[in-house]
Amino acid sequence: MKLFIDTANLEEIKKANSYGILDGVTTNPTLLSREKNEPISQLEKICKVVDGPVSAEVLSLDANGMIREAKERAKIASNIVIKIPCTVDGLKAAKKLKSLNIETNLTLCFSPSQALLVAKAGATYVSPFVGRLDDISTEGMDLVGDIRLIYDNYGISTQIIVASIRHPLHFVESARIGADIATVPFAVIEKLMKHPLTDIGIERFMNDWKKLKDNLQIK
Ligand code: E4P
Repeated sequence: MKLFIDTANLEEIKKANSYGILDGVTTNPTLLSREKNEPISQLEKICKVVDGPVSAEVLSLDANGMIREAKERAKIASNIVIKIPCTVDGLKAAKKLKSLNIETNLTLCFSPSQALLVAKAGATYVSPFVGRLDDISTEGMDLVGDIRLIYDNYGISTQIIVASIRHPLHFVESARIGADIATVPFAVIEKLMKHPLTDIGIERFMNDWKKLKDNLQIK
């Protein structure tokens, strides 16, 4: 499973990238609004730091506007992916952008029927939002399982990006289900390698090694 970071913060992206496990970035208008920089120049900076796909969202609600914005965003860098909401106009835009060889990430996906239709329209990626479903007492990971099943039934190549991840269990469940990608906030990425028994184990090894050296009186 690929790991994307869900942020528009350059420092977080650089840090996660330095771990050697980062495959891409997803941004959205909310994430970009938290940064001080002008959004297009922020996206340019992000694309220079990361080799993999960087999702940038359009704000138009009509297909023509989405396509126009997508063409503009695509000029930012060769690794830009156009994020489009799962609406009827989003379908039309995705189909047109596919014919123009512009990659798309159909976002705000909350149902298997949306996921199937965006795949038929030629979406490169679909982003089911698990955390926001959990927030309304609906099992978000069930949606990911349904999409995986449907895509496998028909050999669909649209890649599933599990989005709106809130904690490490979402990440692990995504991998169990066979999602293609998980896009994870930096705070959650930091938790993925943490284990108290690892820390306790390291401390014990260090102490025992020190005792050994002290006993033998070596450096
Ligand atoms: C995904 O691409 C979105 O940017 C993101 O995962 C939304 O997460 P949220 O529900 O925490 O805002």
